[in-house]
Amino acid sequence: MEHLELLSSFVFPNDTHVHWNIMIVIYPYITGIVAGAFIVSALAHVFKVESLYPIAKFSLIFALSWLLFVTAPLLNHLGHPERALNMLFTPNVVGPSMMAGFGYIYMSYSILLIFEILFVYRYEMVLLKENSIGIKKVIYNILTLGTNDKSEKAPEVGSIQMTQDYEKKGDKLVSTSKEKKVVKVMSWEERREGMKQVCSSCHSTHHVDNFYKQFDSLVNTYNDKFAKPGSEIVAQLKKDGIWKQTALHQDDIGYIWYEIWHHEGRRARHGAAMQAPDYTHWHGMYEVGRHFYNKFLPGVLKLAEKAEKDGMVGMKAKYEKVINDLLSKPEHEWFKTGGNPELLKAIDAENKLRYKQ
Ligand code: HEC
Repeated sequence: MEHLELLSSFVFPNDTHVHWNIMIVIYPYITGIVAGAFIVSALAHVFKVESLYPIAKFSLIFALSWLLFVTAPLLNHLGHPERALNMLFTPNVVGPSMMAGFGYIYMSYSILLIFEILFVYRYEMVLLKENSIGIKKVIYNILTLGTNDKSEKAPEVGSIQMTQDYEKKGDKLVSTSKEKKVVKVMSWEERREGMKQVCSSCHSTHHVDNFYKQFDSLVNTYNDKFAKPGSEIVAQLKKDGIWKQTALHQDDIGYIWYEIWHHEGRRARHGAAMQAPDYTHWHGMYEVGRHFYNKFLPGVLKLAEKAEKDGMVGMKAKYEKVINDLLSKPEHEWFKTGGNPELLKAIDAENKLRYKQ
């Protein structure tokens, strides 16, 4: 206090303030951090300095956090911080105000930074949006500017892309990034044709075609019969607010659904791709079916009944209908009826042919 008095009114009668020497250090220090973090991200994103890739995205958040704080020393110094915005609305245009000028720069830089962060983190925020409900979902929807797009834009012919490559250095293979020019953008059909040509160097075309026919049928069966209707029910439960937990495994049914798509469904498809009948069937589709009919659907009904008890009228009837409609589809009919007689006859005939009994 004594020192403050000594300093106060030293030059002007009204210059009592927190010591300017502290402010003058803190203010450029923080602006330096903000500018530095932005340069780090620009070096990676614009100038492709690879060593900075791992921190390029985060340094934007870092810059924003400090940017929000950068005016604190100045506001402290002003004595009347609540008037800070006045200079922006009534700038002294004739004899240009330095502070207002910086205010504009500061504001435009903040807007630039916020938008850059929204775009750079779009993928993560779409993921967060998909996995949240209620007000959080609304907030993420605003932050993602309403998009659900997680895909990277397909590279255009003629554009330069960073690619991962290997180089021989001495007796070691070293991973490097190289810029290459896009000559052609290939569809999955073209890629499959290319793969089939590789297979055809050993197998007959017929053999290879049949392999892909079988593989595609398995994937489509899994998708259409279990994965799509299951996902629709899960989405509906979340929309109705019945499936409350956003963390998947806090709930019985969360675990069951997770295992259906993450374990069994995936094993079935990998098994078909790798010609492993045991994985395709017993560790795959057999378990998908078992858990779908005997655990997943009953679990859905249990949740709906609980919701009804808790006062959400109509939920029980709604999900009973959803499940009934699903089980009445031809591909699920066997679960209720044991299969239609024609189908059973065909299976019998197939068994006779195959096992001669
Ligand atoms: C270098 C030669 C070669 C290439 C290339 C090749 N295969 Fe094979 N494939 C074989 C041989 C040899 C076998 C038999 C292996 C055995 O029975 O142990 C085989 C087995 C198979 C089988 C199992 C057949 C059965 O009755 O069990 C399938 C299916 C198959 N290959 C599909 C493909 C597909 C699809 C491709 C391309 C993506 C491919 N193969 C590429 C040589 C090749």
